[in-house]
Parts: sequence; C-alpha cells; structure tokens
Amino acid sequence: SQERPLAGKKVLVTAGPTRERIDPVRYLSNFSSGKMGYAIAGEAAKLGADVTLVTGPSALPIPPNVQAVSVESAQEMLEAVLSRYDSVDAVIKTAAVADYRPKTVHGEKMKKQADELVIELERTTDILKTLGMRKRQQVLVGFAAETTNVAEYAAGKLESKNLDMIVANDVTKAGAGFGTDTNIVTMYKRDGTSIPLPMLSKQEVARSLLAEVQGLLNGGHV
Ligand code: PMT
Repeated sequence: SQERPLAGKKVLVTAGPTRERIDPVRYLSNFSSGKMGYAIAGEAAKLGADVTLVTGPSALPIPPNVQAVSVESAQEMLEAVLSRYDSVDAVIKTAAVADYRPKTVHGEKMKKQADELVIELERTTDILKTLGMRKRQQVLVGFAAETTNVAEYAAGKLESKNLDMIVANDVTKAGAGFGTDTNIVTMYKRDGTSIPLPMLSKQEVARSLLAEVQGLLNGGHV
C-alpha cells in the first residue's frame, strides 16, 4: 500500500561498531554509536518491511517491530549476516566493521610491559565484499566513511564490492558521520547517478535511502 511500500520485503540492516578482543578486558573498536543503522531499521519497519538488525555493541534501544541479533566481532557479524543472506531482499550495511583484529587474543589480562608494546593485527573478512560475490536477487547497499576523495573512493567500492548503491559520508564534516544525530551523505547508484543530500537527521537520511532501496527492489522504478 501507499503507507507500507516495503510490506512483504525482508530487509537486513547492520549497525554499530565491532569489538575485536585483545585480552579479557581490552578491545579495539571505533566511534560508531549505531544511530544511523538503528534509524534505517526503525524507518524500514515503519514502511512495513520485515526487519532484522544485526548490531554490534550499542546503547540504543531496539526500534519497534525490529528483530535484533546482537554480535560483538567482525567474525560474528559475518556469520550472522551470511546465515540470513539467502532469505532477504535487501541488505544495508551501515555497521563500522573493524578491518583488523589482534592476531592473538590473550586468555589472561596482558601485563604491563617495561617498554613499548606491539600488538600484531590481521585482516578481518570484508563482509560486504563477500555478500557482493554471493549476490543473487538481493539489493545490496553499502556505506563509505571517508575523510578524503569521498566521491572517488565511494565509486571504487560500489564497483569492487558489486553493490547496487553506496552511501558516502565525509566523516570529517561537522554534523556528519560517527555519533551525531545528523548526517550529510551522497548516494551513488550503479547507473552512475548520484544524489547529494543536505544535512538531515539520521531519520530523514534513512527515509531518503529507503525510497531508493524501494526503487531498486522494484527494478529501478520508484
Ligand atoms: O553509528 P553512527 O554513530 O550513527 O555512525 C554512522 C556511521 C558513520 C558508522 C555510518 O554512517 C557509516 O559510514 N558506516 C560505514 C562505516 C565504515 O566502516 O565504512 P568503510 O568505508 O570502512 O566500509 C565500507 C563498507 O564496507 C561499509 O558498508 C562496511 O559495513 C563494510 N565493511 C567494512 C569492513 C569489513 N570488514 N566488512 C564490511 O562489510
């Protein structure tokens, strides 16, 4: 219907940071609060979608009518997303996933060293790239958090990860990116078009993004 244009559609949203353990009391992470991804999940549910939110650690309440799956690390997020991938219509990857994790996770709290401490890191699996390679009918939307050359890096990720759309935010701008209630994004689509949005609340960004997803689900016709 007009009010519930995503009724019958299964949408998977990822949100928040990941935590990569160093030892039982320490981890590596980033400043993602979950606000952007939770807003997308909440708005998608209001539009009638059947929404699963795979979320890294966040203090935010789960939006109404959203099914949440809590994960901690990039590896757990990968597994949670992959196990649901075949049954969903769209995936929106808002999470700020760690690109690296400590090579060794210490079983005991690490003791203070007399001098410098070096922690070796190894790459995590790129979840979005994995989804792009296994894509069938799904509409796949990524985010790009950049600090320079936003348009160029976003276009590169759209292509290399086989996405239908990428939402780029210049995280150095005031009112954009991590932790804020607003965001400033440009949406880049596969057909070469880009849609720049002004500073908006994350709810409003979510609505604009979902209007595009709705169009992509309908074969490009909004
Ligand atoms: O949570 P908030 O405080 O509201 O902040 C919102 C946000 C800034 C986190 C969000 O708007 C955003 O930009 N999310 C993507 C952050 C990010 O990790 O960007 P990236 O350019 O490093 O990664 C690009 C894409 O690849 C993302 O869709 C990411 O989910 C995905 N990725 C990255 C690494 C990895 N190992 N697996 C992935 O799937």
